[in-house]
Amino acid sequence: MNIKIDQEIDGIPGFLYELALRRIARSYSPYQPVSIKGKPICPGERKHSDRFAVIRNVIASMGAKTVLDLGCAEGYFVEQAAAQCGCVALGIDADVRRLSLAQASVALNRVKGAGFMYGELTLEFVRMLPMFDAVFFMSILHHIMYERGVAYALEYMMGIRSKVSKFLIFDMGQSDETENAWASLLPDMGSNPHLWVKHFLESAGFSKVEKLTESDAYQGVTKRALFCLIP
Ligand SMILES: C[S@@+](CC[C@H](N)C(=O)[O-])C[C@H]1O[C@@H](n2cnc3c(N)ncnc32)[C@H](O)[C@@H]1O
Repeated sequence: MNIKIDQEIDGIPGFLYELALRRIARSYSPYQPVSIKGKPICPGERKHSDRFAVIRNVIASMGAKTVLDLGCAEGYFVEQAAAQCGCVALGIDADVRRLSLAQASVALNRVKGAGFMYGELTLEFVRMLPMFDAVFFMSILHHIMYERGVAYALEYMMGIRSKVSKFLIFDMGQSDETENAWASLLPDMGSNPHLWVKHFLESAGFSKVEKLTESDAYQGVTKRALFCLIP
């Protein structure tokens, strides 16, 4: 059965559902775009389609069938991996508003194989997860690094590495993103932050650290490096 958002959805009038989603999206700043049946609910704050175009090629070339997105926000990458690549994809996040939009989007867009879990991404929690072919861990580690230090961030990355069967897609905020208050709390990554991050990742034991592309950073002109890591 095909359900349209302006029709009855499991007993809930569609316009009420859409109103609720728009109300949730207006209550904070969604990081990723959400569209229901082609109708935009929120635009998002970064160019996610650029990042996914690159990631899609890696999924295809590496033959990934299962995907885990740690800190999935509104579920853009989970939805795309399931819809475009036929993966079974799980997103985990601790923000209920983001998860509400994410789950509504995959359900109403009838995306098979995409789902979400509420979870606080502590290292202990990560260690309890099963392995996935592909793991995405994007734009989160810088927060862990300035809150808990470089040594802990390294231990955290080792924990994630143990959950990766084929590859990890990774990016992080850099110390040259000076428009953000957190940039000054990070270790000084020098004149080449992409190289600094590459060396940091190598020290976490990844056998290969390849820079795939550069993408727009959060609220600034700086370019963030997107990496593909082999465990
Ligand atoms: C900056 S957004 C990045 C979203 C996505 N990974 C991307 O690159 O587009 C960070 C996301 O991680 C989630 N997050 C941050 N710390 C978390 C934690 N400790 N446990 C679970 N989710 C967390 C936030 O709720 C948010 O959705």
